[in-house]
Amino acid sequence: MRMEMFHGVPDAALAVRIPVFVEEQGFVDEVDEIDGVATHVVLFDEAEQPIATCRVFEQEDTYILGRLCVLKAHRGKGYGSDLVAATERYVGSVGGERLALHSQYHAKGFYEKLGYAPDGEIEDEQGCPHIWMVKVIKGDTKMDFLEIANARQSCRSFDADLVVEPEKLERILEAARLSPSASNGQPYHLTVCTGEKAKQVAKATQSLGANKFSSDAPVQIVISEKPNVKSALVGAKVTGTDYRSIDIGIAAAYLTAEATTQGLSTCILGWLDGGKLRELCGLDGAARLVISLGYAKADDKLRAKKRKTTEELITVLK
Ligand SMILES: Cc1cc2nc3c(=O)[nH]c(=O)nc-3n(C[C@H](O)[C@H](O)[C@H](O)COP(=O)(O)O)c2cc1C
Repeated sequence: MRMEMFHGVPDAALAVRIPVFVEEQGFVDEVDEIDGVATHVVLFDEAEQPIATCRVFEQEDTYILGRLCVLKAHRGKGYGSDLVAATERYVGSVGGERLALHSQYHAKGFYEKLGYAPDGEIEDEQGCPHIWMVKVIKGDTKMDFLEIANARQSCRSFDADLVVEPEKLERILEAARLSPSASNGQPYHLTVCTGEKAKQVAKATQSLGANKFSSDAPVQIVISEKPNVKSALVGAKVTGTDYRSIDIGIAAAYLTAEATTQGLSTCILGWLDGGKLRELCGLDGAARLVISLGYAKADDKLRAKKRKTTEELITVLK
């Protein structure tokens, strides 16, 4: 089983919705303009066939969950609840606090068990009674790692008006501190810059017109090299690999993943002026990465992930 999120409706979602809503239940106008802007969650079975789906989109201060359905052959196994839980975690991760849905009246009990309360009168929708139901999800969400990987993306539109709460920053830095490294050497240092210093650091990532957006991020974390510990030095000599950039990459991955769980956004910046950063931050080793950290602007929606295919990327040998 695999769950994936998409921005804009994928064929996989329609391969579930059409059989359920159109062929089984007789709804018309199944696909609408909201499909283009909504985030869609699709559950795939072991054979990579889509078997359940739902969508969610933002409307004023509420996220609306809809089009939840499971193919007939796969009902009664809790997949609907799994989709709702994944959607709640996603909405929580992007800072949403309130989730509403227009439930078919017969499904009211299902949603009540998941913590949704009726909100309003029974209404008719294409001849089928529906009722609005809501759940406040603030502080009530946890994402699993694949959901974090799906939800994290490089932010290039930070909201300069929103500060990063100190307790969130602390957790994000703790995630980097806990990351693994060759010989457990942690051959790097993190310099956290805020205020005017953050602005100066952002400037040092902007040569040739690059990374202009970084100026709006309220926090810049500069990751610089420290000398290798002895055993990593020996390893580097024997294998010909200096592990420091690898270790820094892993720390950056931990840090940015934790930021996502906190509802914050990041961009890893490798396009930088090392000399300038060294001077600005008083570093004694090469600056390797800057992580811009802050809240994304409301229009920075989840994009479809562009990645190599599994076949291109992974070889399995026996
Ligand atoms: C080591 C490293 C350096 C990067 N440098 C920059 C950069 O200088 N500017 C930028 O806009 N994005 C930069 N990125 C972001 C990548 O372009 C981005 O991660 C990639 O396109 C995948 O997109 P996503 O992060 O939104 O999934 C960098 C990413 C990594 C891992």
